[in-house]
Amino acid sequence: MEVLIVNDLWVKYYTMSGVVEAVSGVSFRLREKEMLAIVGESGSGKSTLGFSILNMVPKPGKIVNGQILLEGTDILKLHPHEIRKIRGSKISMIFQDPFTTLDPLRKIVDQFGEFLVEHGVEKSKVNTIVREYLEAVGLPERIMYSYPHQLSGGQKQRVSIAMAIALNPRVVVADEPTTALDVVVQKQIMDLIDAIKEKYGTSIILITHDLALALERANSVMVMYGGYIMEYADKTELYDNMKHPYTKALFEALPRVMCKTLPKSLPGNPPDLRRPPPGCIFHPRCEFATEKCRIEKPRLREVSKNHLVACHYAGEIL
Ligand SMILES: Nc1ncnc2c1ncn2[C@@H]1O[C@H](COP(=O)(O)OP(=O)(O)OP(=O)(O)O)[C@@H](O)[C@H]1O
Ligand SMILES: [Mg+2]
Repeated sequence: MEVLIVNDLWVKYYTMSGVVEAVSGVSFRLREKEMLAIVGESGSGKSTLGFSILNMVPKPGKIVNGQILLEGTDILKLHPHEIRKIRGSKISMIFQDPFTTLDPLRKIVDQFGEFLVEHGVEKSKVNTIVREYLEAVGLPERIMYSYPHQLSGGQKQRVSIAMAIALNPRVVVADEPTTALDVVVQKQIMDLIDAIKEKYGTSIILITHDLALALERANSVMVMYGGYIMEYADKTELYDNMKHPYTKALFEALPRVMCKTLPKSLPGNPPDLRRPPPGCIFHPRCEFATEKCRIEKPRLREVSKNHLVACHYAGEIL
């Protein structure tokens, strides 16, 4: 059963120095309890895609085309007051920096409580729910009466996760949720997100620049570059049969334990999305690029069941 369907999404930022084509023709489907990882370098459009799913692309960004069907309802067609109701209750977001969610100057119980009341929870039930969800994310009750600045990075991220799940949303978008944390805490937070997925049946969109994390945790992986999907498949299929030169480059750039060869970094820079190159957007950095790649944009096509690749030479070069 699909919880979320995104169809042909295009998002642009209208800046003084030109139009940034941040997300270009992205489509995907998210099943119940699925964890989809969206992977790519800085500037590939991951966060813009994440914000789009909650219809909260920041200015000067605009969704110029597409459908976002959450349990069948196109959230791009809802009135602002309807979408505010849905945000937090049916779909919610966790950020890299928990301060994006938490007000440093207010006690956890007050801000968590206010969030619940805004979404229609009766005042008399607030404290019970706050306590229940802090416990669900492994925090002691006394944290209720703390201020965010008294908590560690990991604890703050747990509080924002508690708020993100308290109204039992169908989908949680987690944008680099562990990037700001040290390695041990990273693992704890990812374990917590996994546990939540299982316990509440939530679908998770994990946004990360880390292909290793995606391969370790997700059910399916979408690789983005310059706003386009390059490759998209179930995790094992992607790992066993990666077909896009960009996916391969990300993979070869991963540091490896017990390996004598050094990781290979991808030469060159991501494209300027105000003036994207013609043809395949990846061609300037692709070691296999031909004349065709410089002229003709590859379609995202199915190379085997549920395995999509946007490369003219998918299946021939790797
Ligand atoms: N508020 C904004 N105004 C103008 N351009 C923006 C804005 N936010 C993002 N962009 C541009 O949109 C493109 C996609 O950015 P986005 O933040 O979605 O990428 P990302 O994959 O999340 O990168 P990162 O890994 O650094 O978080 C980039 O070219 C970026 O410069
Ligand atoms: Mg981002």
